[in-house]
Amino acid sequence: METKDNRYALLYKQVQHLVSGETDMTAVMANMAAMIHETFHFWWTGFYCEKGGELLLGPFQGPVACMHIGFGKGVCGTAWKERRTVVVPDVEQFPGHIACSSESRSEIVVPVLQEGRVVSVLDIDSRELNTFDAVDALWLEKMVGLLPPITPRRSEQEIYLAAGCFWGAEKYLKLIEGVTFTEVGFANGNTENPTYKEVYTDQTGYAETVHLRYNPAVVSLRFLLEMYFKAIDPTSLNKQGEDEGTRYRTGIYYSDSADCAVIDAAVAEEAQKYGLPLQVEVEPLRNFYRAEEYHQDYLDKNPTGYCHLPVALFELAKKAKEY
Ligand code: SME
Repeated sequence: METKDNRYALLYKQVQHLVSGETDMTAVMANMAAMIHETFHFWWTGFYCEKGGELLLGPFQGPVACMHIGFGKGVCGTAWKERRTVVVPDVEQFPGHIACSSESRSEIVVPVLQEGRVVSVLDIDSRELNTFDAVDALWLEKMVGLLPPITPRRSEQEIYLAAGCFWGAEKYLKLIEGVTFTEVGFANGNTENPTYKEVYTDQTGYAETVHLRYNPAVVSLRFLLEMYFKAIDPTSLNKQGEDEGTRYRTGIYYSDSADCAVIDAAVAEEAQKYGLPLQVEVEPLRNFYRAEEYHQDYLDKNPTGYCHLPVALFELAKKAKEY
């Protein structure tokens, strides 16, 4: 008897045969979508790919579809956020379902995980209710394992975060798994080679800033920014804890403009929580000067030294694990 399981088993072999040796993700996605679609005559079969902090429409078969889906939005954004396959027996019962086509009645979305991050999702819609179950989930998860790796990411990336007094901020941020290097210094000011004493006058335009390097296979910029927001009051202008002055302003400074979309999405999501515009400056990094040595790892060298952050935050950072 021809069961769904048999049909998937055969399809899997066919796809495997067709795409073996192919290295282009888009080309493989296009044929994989076509083959799944042809085999089961679904209503819509295709991919959304993570790009710049959102899901962007990729190769598909079926009617015209929406092109952008936010993190956590719809079934696709949920599968991305929760990093799991989402089976929806009746789309009308799924809060936040995005109806690209009014004919779609049930849906399955399978995240494509590579090196610990969701690089895209496979989305399939059916015109009937209750089309998908654990058999589809199992085979489709196996199927997306046939996709070639996306272009390898650089092994290290960097970001500059101003979060008030840099002593506590560095201690906190460097505890997060995936952070490979930190140093403290002064960013986006107007003088050359500023000293701590000069910056302390609040006349130089510099912000006390932590320079982070991180391994994107272990931690994403989005997650780092989520952790960053836990350690600041983003609505407070030029004041964090008891520390006041433009040198204690909050800011996200990027050296790679490819990070802009992720930063903008994270800031927008955070702003929604407050219903107020945030005071966090988002700018390209214009300059950065490393602070004097005694400021580096200050709280490791001076465990009882001043810190504006609560101890509980350090415990949180130690346990924080994205993947
Ligand atoms: N229904 C999806 C949107 C994509 S279309 O189904 C092609 C969702 O809620 O994420």
